[in-house]
Amino acid sequence: FSVPTPKNEPINSYAPNTKEREALIAKLTEMRSIVADVPMYIGSEEVRTGNKQALTSPHDHQHILGYYHEGDATHVNQAIDTALAAREAWANLPWENRMAIFLKAADLSATKYRNELNASTMLGQSKNAYQAEIDSACEWIDFLRFNVHFATQIYAEQPISSDYVWNRLEYRPLEGFVFAVTPFNFTAIAGNLPASAALMGNVVVWKPSPQQIYSANVLMKVLKEAGLPDGVINLIYTDGPLTGDIVFKHPQFAGVHFTGSTKVFQHIWKTIGENIHKYKSYPRIVGETGGKDFVVAHKSADAKALAVGLVRGAFEYQGQKCSAASRAYIPNTLWEQTWEYVQADLNEIKVGPVEDFSNFVNAVIDEKAFDKITTYIDNAKASDKAKVIAGGNYDKSKGYFIEPTIILTEDPHYTTMCEEIFGPVLTIYVYDADKYEETLDIVNTTSDYALTGAIFAQDRYALEIANKKLINAAGNFYINDKPTGAVVGQQPFGGARASGTNDKAGSKLNLLRWVSPRTIKETF
Ligand code: SER
Repeated sequence: FSVPTPKNEPINSYAPNTKEREALIAKLTEMRSIVADVPMYIGSEEVRTGNKQALTSPHDHQHILGYYHEGDATHVNQAIDTALAAREAWANLPWENRMAIFLKAADLSATKYRNELNASTMLGQSKNAYQAEIDSACEWIDFLRFNVHFATQIYAEQPISSDYVWNRLEYRPLEGFVFAVTPFNFTAIAGNLPASAALMGNVVVWKPSPQQIYSANVLMKVLKEAGLPDGVINLIYTDGPLTGDIVFKHPQFAGVHFTGSTKVFQHIWKTIGENIHKYKSYPRIVGETGGKDFVVAHKSADAKALAVGLVRGAFEYQGQKCSAASRAYIPNTLWEQTWEYVQADLNEIKVGPVEDFSNFVNAVIDEKAFDKITTYIDNAKASDKAKVIAGGNYDKSKGYFIEPTIILTEDPHYTTMCEEIFGPVLTIYVYDADKYEETLDIVNTTSDYALTGAIFAQDRYALEIANKKLINAAGNFYINDKPTGAVVGQQPFGGARASGTNDKAGSKLNLLRWVSPRTIKETF
């Protein structure tokens, strides 16, 4: 049997004077007024080590939202042991039960916990209400519901049989435990990485980014209330290298579901390689690792649509999306008009804390990110190859605020055209409109990443040239739209090259990585 094809969760806009906005503000006020005590979750235990680390708001870094209890090697081992102890019962539970738990988690997230999920993402990760809603409410709920739908499709897929022979495929969970390593920038991704592996019957040790622990705590509360048995997902706050050193040497390590930096992912892959002889099975290695995402315009493009794509693609959530537009190639014939529209849009943008819902750009995640991003901006200001034509100001006295910044360069290989910045910085190269095809070749070879990209053109021939020339330059390719905002069930998400293993989050392709099928032939 199957579940009906789910619909994407409708996005609430939290418009002024609505009861939805009032309820969200009330939740923000309530959460800001208390100091949360955030434990690790290992099996049935809420683990409080007493080694407390502060959780602060990026847009108000002196404001303590709470403290999380940091763990050490003992807790990593305890989480692995607890996961393994829960494995047999979970793996043997008929799969409808697992589906029901995650469907219930979706319903709880859509109702009772919606404001808490959004408020924790707004306060802990500095997302505005709309960005929080599409992440920690809609995308998280969609991951849960669509993954259940895809899982039922997987279980239904069976080989052909004949008279006297019955062939079957049994989609076994992996033998061992899965390690989920999750990023700060999407609460939905952080929840999906452990949840999708668990949905397919696996047990999980989950280590979130420290900057997302505040909302991870809410995700965990939802999963527990939905009936997730103890030990299936174990949430720990431990040092990365220390955790990796234990996990990747463990004989029952069965797979890693990762979103984070290319550098860390490559290190993980290498470590797994070095320890390969220790494991019972070849582990699944699934990772999504960043991008240097492009927007290319042809001279036939609609300048207004292009401007919207540039501004939203580059500056929503302060550019801290691995899909964010960070390099753009605009023909000289279109530049003046595009720039006028971009400036008009930028003039509408307000920068500030999330509690004021009219702020479009909020703070970047922490001081390290702030310093890295502003160094790129300062270098551009000092360079004779680049010019800062919009924004460029920043201030970290109260929160880590950086103005949406646009750099113009005449060198398509200037640093900020090539390196991932992960902040509100867009670099634009204006090209000779007659050199469209040469420019597409530059787009394809400038970066090692291949996550997302967009082409703006009205001319179908020009679109087709870009389609062919950029075939391997992006795993998510957008035509006349910004390169961000993939929707679960609509645009399966992921890229190849240095951007990851392209196992498409929110699709059957991803879920298939978390099963080890057994073929059964029975002869009568
Ligand atoms: N899935 C997000 C997007 O498409 C990025 O992680 O923007």
